[in-house]
Amino acid sequence: MLVCLPTKEVIVISLARIFEEHPDRRYIMFGGKGGLGKTTFSAATAHWLAKQGHKVLVFSVDPQASLTDIFEQDIFGKGAVEIMPNLFAQEIDADQRIKEYQEEIRQKIFDMYGMDEIPEEIESYIQAAAAEPAMEESAIFDKVVDIVVGAEYDYYIYDLVPLGHALYYLSMASVYDDWIDKITRLREEMEEYQQVAAVVQRDGEFEEDLILKELQEIKYRINTSSSILTDREKTAFFFVIVPEEMAILDTQKAATLFAKFQVPLSGYVVNRVLPPELAAQEIPEFLRHRLEMQEGALRRIDEQFGGEVLAHVPEFERDITGLEMIERMGEVMFGGAR
Ligand SMILES: Nc1ncnc2c1ncn2[C@@H]1O[C@H](COP(=O)(O)OP(=O)(O)O)[C@@H](O)[C@H]1O
Ligand SMILES: [Mg+2]
Repeated sequence: MLVCLPTKEVIVISLARIFEEHPDRRYIMFGGKGGLGKTTFSAATAHWLAKQGHKVLVFSVDPQASLTDIFEQDIFGKGAVEIMPNLFAQEIDADQRIKEYQEEIRQKIFDMYGMDEIPEEIESYIQAAAAEPAMEESAIFDKVVDIVVGAEYDYYIYDLVPLGHALYYLSMASVYDDWIDKITRLREEMEEYQQVAAVVQRDGEFEEDLILKELQEIKYRINTSSSILTDREKTAFFFVIVPEEMAILDTQKAATLFAKFQVPLSGYVVNRVLPPELAAQEIPEFLRHRLEMQEGALRRIDEQFGGEVLAHVPEFERDITGLEMIERMGEVMFGGAR
């Protein structure tokens, strides 16, 4: 016997209700392991919100370029691309950002030290630094900060990379903050010794001030973005889960970690639920077994996350790609237009 699932009406209203009851939650994220449906839900939510008349940006830093796949349109590294009225999608190209970074560093060297050519050893240092994984992370982070701090859209939907990375990203904010504090302090101390510093012989005071000012600006940007991303009033973070034992265990662990970073959890969305009414039909033994396993997993999900489960999303007959499927998914998630 299959457990009695809540009726469709009850399920679908709750996810929409989160948006209705919290109109200030304008930063939306779906977290969870790879392949569970984060990109699908991000795109469907963006579509649904855009159809309600909100201007929405769904963006991703995943080099696997999955928004390109789901929207069936090449948007990688092209900035915010209009998909349909009110709906914009953006895939950040980290390599491109690193090149911009390098150019900015060169420009600063020109401007600050009045050089007209970058010395070879500095140029090779700039090249080597670009190969550092930390450089890529920092380039991505910087771009995300740019997007989030801008106030162009009503909603920002951040299509997250798989969990580990998302956690890393969130922890970066505090690491960066500490690091900048330290550097700032160091620079302040150095002010006293600036007369002896070779690089600041020319207009030394002014140059030191510029660097300090820049550090403070970075700090401001980081604080603003991380406070937005961890602000319960402004952010809705949903966990995507599927009715499988392993996924449930992983999600429990992840939820604990996210709580540590004070990510405000808005609830869980269960994806890829096989229609339970199948059990009443003539079906192969294989499928019946899958349904039984799913029944157990759904019961576990209910025990573990019960009151926080906002929607059960069925397994569709095919992958979710293209606007028509995305719209269908949005309707299933949110229960049609308001
Ligand atoms: N409910 C569903 N029914 C059918 N296919 C789905 C469903 N949810 C997701 N998929 C498919 O599963 C694959 C992985 O989904 P995706 O959203 O890319 O996961 P993630 O972003 O978490 O890695 C995609 O091919 C997507 O179309
Ligand atoms: Mg994805």
